[in-house]
Amino acid sequence: MKKTVAIIGSSGAIGNAVAEILLDDDGVEAIYRFSRNDSNENSDRVKNLYIDIEDEESIKDCIKNLSKDIKFDLVFVATGILHNDNDIFPEKSIRDISKSKLEKVLLVNTIGPALVGKYFIPYLRKDSKSIFAFLSARVGSISDNKLGGWYSYRASKTALNQIIKNFSIEVRRSNPNAIFIGLQPGTVKSFLSKPFEKNVRPGNLFTPEYSATKMLEVIDNLSLEDTGKVYAWDGEEIQP
Ligand SMILES: NC(=O)c1ccc[n+]([C@@H]2O[C@H](COP(=O)([O-])OP(=O)(O)OC[C@H]3O[C@@H](n4cnc5c(N)ncnc54)[C@H](OP(=O)(O)O)[C@@H]3O)[C@@H](O)[C@H]2O)c1
Repeated sequence: MKKTVAIIGSSGAIGNAVAEILLDDDGVEAIYRFSRNDSNENSDRVKNLYIDIEDEESIKDCIKNLSKDIKFDLVFVATGILHNDNDIFPEKSIRDISKSKLEKVLLVNTIGPALVGKYFIPYLRKDSKSIFAFLSARVGSISDNKLGGWYSYRASKTALNQIIKNFSIEVRRSNPNAIFIGLQPGTVKSFLSKPFEKNVRPGNLFTPEYSATKMLEVIDNLSLEDTGKVYAWDGEEIQP
């Protein structure tokens, strides 16, 4: 059976690359691109829908616009924030911690994806394997934290990984064919990574297409016992 896919954050570098790769896949019947500003055209196979993951009503509304019978084989959550054009930038030290910035980063990176899970999980296919993937980050691993800093982003991804684990435990009962995973895309050229590009060793800054291709390979190879885990783009399991 051909697949139906939802990509949340399809306007981003990685989300868009995932959508473009799946568009070339004959095994994919329909792609639902959810974002705040996607300039993509609707077509027979591609539908663009508005979502603001910071607003629970917006997530609820976009579900209302879907057919009640829709079943997703893959939901890929590619939203995220590390910095913005206003005041958000990763904290270098304790004195940079601020309530409003922590709130914003946790809202986009943790609370938004948790709410996307709340409303999209009922639409996961049940009669065969289905995947709910969230873009996480290696810096969300507490055991891997050697450098410190980046308080809000690290904490938001650590908490996201916990939410993913919780989804995997609870949904096992109602949908034993569902797999929930976090994915670390590598360092990928995008708006999000732009300020840090210069620190990346040559060859280690991936194109969005390369990272998306590798992560889709990881997704294809998942089995039910992988649910709740976090994997890197090359299939390495990232420890909590
Ligand atoms: N790039 C890397 O090196 C790297 C490394 C590790 C992890 N990651 C993770 O990968 C994910 C994607 O990153 P990227 O590199 O593709 O960054 P990006 O190009 O900046 O994309 C981020 C996406 O998040 C969306 N977004 C932010 N807030 C939103 C909201 N309230 N509602 C709906 N969409 C919202 C943006 O949409 P708008 O266009 O509407 O703003 C954009 O589509 C993030 O979770 C990031 O933490 C990236």
